[in-house]
Amino acid sequence: MNKININGIELAYERQGKGTPLVLLHGFPLDHHLWDEVIPLLEDTFDLIIPDLRGFGESTTVDTLYTTDDLASDIAGLLDQLGIEKSAIAGHSMGGYVALAFARLYPEKVSGLGLVSTQALADPPERKEGRYKSAEDVADNGIHGIVEAMTTKFTSNERLQEFARNSMERQQPAAYIGSLKAMAERSDSSSLLASMDYPVVVIHGDADVLIPIERGQEMKDAISHAHFVKIKDAGHVPMLEAAQETANGLKLLA
Ligand code: MLT
Repeated sequence: MNKININGIELAYERQGKGTPLVLLHGFPLDHHLWDEVIPLLEDTFDLIIPDLRGFGESTTVDTLYTTDDLASDIAGLLDQLGIEKSAIAGHSMGGYVALAFARLYPEKVSGLGLVSTQALADPPERKEGRYKSAEDVADNGIHGIVEAMTTKFTSNERLQEFARNSMERQQPAAYIGSLKAMAERSDSSSLLASMDYPVVVIHGDADVLIPIERGQEMKDAISHAHFVKIKDAGHVPMLEAAQETANGLKLLA
């Protein structure tokens, strides 16, 4: 993978294809391989930039506290170093929280936004508390418990559950802990949605049990010009479960 130094860490990324710049941000607790199935479907349309978020994959793992704004700042630094002034940003789930933070902090750098299996809402208090408990459990007992709990929630497809499990098992405990805390402390992005003046596509599986499709519908309703790609029978990882439909949705950002 390519690497840059930014904000005191090494950020790893893949770059592939030609066209409009499009950053693809993976969700928790995965890495850039989440997008492997859609890359061949998008590389004729986009200059794809596919990082491992801080802590994940080949990017530096840190033990210090950070926020989704810090993760967005890593991506802004990456684009700056690549000489890209404006880019479409698509984020899956936690990657969507980072994409929304990016849109709030750097609106002038955004040419379009893809919100995949994600939500604009912040965590309610009990969810926030649950994240801190999960972070403690990972610190005390390792990642096994959370990997077990999450595997079947990504998708009902057993082959893809295996893919998700392998991806989760590759990640460092510190990445789980850091990003659970970052997600717990993220702000509510709902008030940002109405001001978006670039193309937006919301992509959501109707069988998502981690973030229900109603959260996607709420974002679509708040952004009058947004496209809504509802994917029938897909769970939390439509880029794996329905790669072509997901790619077609993302192409609306070209
Ligand atoms: C993700 O897939 O990134 C996470 O499940 C999102 C979350 O826990 O809110």
